[in-house]
Amino acid sequence: MLDKKVYTLDKFLSYALYDKKDGYYENKIPFGAKGDYITSPTVSILFSEMISIFIIIFWKKIGSPKNLNIVEMGGGNGEMIFQIYKSLKNFPKILKNCKFYIYENSKLLKKIQKKKLKKIQIKWIDSLSKINGKNNLFIANEFFDALPIKQFKRKNNKWLETKIKVKNKKNFEIIEVLSNMSNLNKKLGFDLFSNQNFVEYSPLEIKILKKISKIIYNKNGGLLIIDYGFFENNMKNTLQSLYKHKSNNFLMNIGEADITHHVNFNLIEKFAKKNKLQVSLKTNQKNFLTSLGIKYRAEQISKKLSFSGKTDVFYRLDRLINENKMGNLFKVIFLTKTKLNILES
Ligand SMILES: C[S@@+](CC[C@H](N)C(=O)[O-])C[C@H]1O[C@@H](n2cnc3c(N)ncnc32)[C@H](O)[C@@H]1O
Repeated sequence: MLDKKVYTLDKFLSYALYDKKDGYYENKIPFGAKGDYITSPTVSILFSEMISIFIIIFWKKIGSPKNLNIVEMGGGNGEMIFQIYKSLKNFPKILKNCKFYIYENSKLLKKIQKKKLKKIQIKWIDSLSKINGKNNLFIANEFFDALPIKQFKRKNNKWLETKIKVKNKKNFEIIEVLSNMSNLNKKLGFDLFSNQNFVEYSPLEIKILKKISKIIYNKNGGLLIIDYGFFENNMKNTLQSLYKHKSNNFLMNIGEADITHHVNFNLIEKFAKKNKLQVSLKTNQKNFLTSLGIKYRAEQISKKLSFSGKTDVFYRLDRLINENKMGNLFKVIFLTKTKLNILES
């Protein structure tokens, strides 16, 4: 509910995305042709199969422990966990040691996930403190880009924060308000603003990263992030809104349009290092999936298919790994307690 006249951008986006009554994730099923976007697990099952291989490699690299918690951050329509479980059924020695969790805040999507995943033992959590036991592998595919952000702009050597003025329930305006950076830097524990003219970051992302880092450091594990994003140090305005697969002004179609941003992997890396984690992998989606054997798997499953079946497999593969499509737009980082050469034998 909107009960104030002015909101910081992140608070306004929280309303637009998560409000129990008006929020996007509570009102719309965002996936598929009728939705606003398609994520990699729904592009091709090959994606989730490669994540399964990644899980197996990770499990072996950390000494094949008796317990491995697999935590999906934001379960979407449940497709990724569904396929991971299906793949791991071929590896019963590993599967018997896995416990599945989905961290999800949308009631609507939780309902869809529960229906799709009813045969799998999964614990849905709304707080990361509800995870029990050692060896926690967090998998965040297109999770962080969905979190609300703040934005700041440098003007005449002063920093202005973007805020949203509520004119009425459907009419909003961007305003810029003078902001005190040193307080913010102190709160964050590092300087976000030097050498930048524009700053964009998600306070919720920092909060979640802090919690995950602590769990990984204390109980071992890793955080795999795959997302639309960039490695460069320079920040820019990456806020975008999609409505029915088309670009949309983010102040319009509130609750109907999906609002995201490009994930700042450079900031994630800095933050992770500050929290004593190691970067075990940093690459783009093409290299990540190719190293895990996605092309080989596509050849293998298409052997028995008709010509149109084969075409479909390779069309979807291309979408995932072509550098002009998702292959380079999507970046990958894997953060761990101790450094692992995850994609080398
Ligand atoms: C873009 S979807 C990605 C879904 C899935 N990982 C995939 O690859 O298809 C984002 C997911 O994160 C969930 N989500 C967004 N913000 C969240 C938050 N603050 N806490 C928990 N879940 C959140 C959404 O409800 C949705 O399930």
